[in-house]
Amino acid sequence: MRDIFGKALLDYQNRDYTEDIITSTSISNDDVLPLPYLFRNYPDMPKLEQKALELAKGEVLDVGCGSGSHSLYLQKKGLTVKAIDISKGAIEVAKLRGVKNAEVLNILDETETYDTILLLMNGTGIFQKLNLVAKYLKHLKSLLKPNGHILIDSSDIQYMYEDDDGGIWMDTNAEYYGEIDYFISYKGEKEVPMTWLYLDFNTLKLACETVGLQCELIMEGEHFDYLARLNK
Ligand SMILES: C[S@@+](CC[C@H](N)C(=O)[O-])C[C@H]1O[C@@H](n2cnc3c(N)ncnc32)[C@H](O)[C@@H]1O
Repeated sequence: MRDIFGKALLDYQNRDYTEDIITSTSISNDDVLPLPYLFRNYPDMPKLEQKALELAKGEVLDVGCGSGSHSLYLQKKGLTVKAIDISKGAIEVAKLRGVKNAEVLNILDETETYDTILLLMNGTGIFQKLNLVAKYLKHLKSLLKPNGHILIDSSDIQYMYEDDDGGIWMDTNAEYYGEIDYFISYKGEKEVPMTWLYLDFNTLKLACETVGLQCELIMEGEHFDYLARLNK
């Protein structure tokens, strides 16, 4: 990983904002990811994220925290938060913004237990592939304190395969349709391509059942997105 994402966050934090991140995927063309969005305050967060923050309780783990927006909000509310990310730049920024406990760490290497585990901004993306979901869910389950919960958002991206007539052009021999290759570039530099997973709610619920987690639909967003709560 070249940490292009972290570099962009650091530039924004250091008041050197001249360009946005450009993203594209195996099923879509170039799109702009505005850097200010990665520094959003509570009023600019999607309703699903606001709801997740409202439900967060006790000791919180913010997985893939990015610049730390969710952690900062909860920290100000008086909750104990640990923010983790595999991006060095992201953790540097989260610390600069005031997140007290932020660490460069892959979720699979986390060992402490929590009352709330947050995975936001398509939290299932971190699982990468459908055949890795059970592994990640089992690990997340092992990090829950009694009565703890996981709050995770994602989208059903089937709509991205619809043509203008409403037909679906999906390759039925391919892997699960929510598995996509994700490319990002910033200031002319390209990140190593990533696999990013969008999971529809029913597939997430089925995966949860296989590892002994209950999965509840908390809220649906405006564009096939949803927030789910997972409990032991
Ligand atoms: C879409 S960004 C979301 C950032 C932040 N949660 C937000 O809402 O602004 C996903 C983040 O997850 C991090 N990430 C990806 N895989 C991870 C892993 N296995 N463990 C921890 N963080 C991870 C990425 O570096 C990135 O910062």
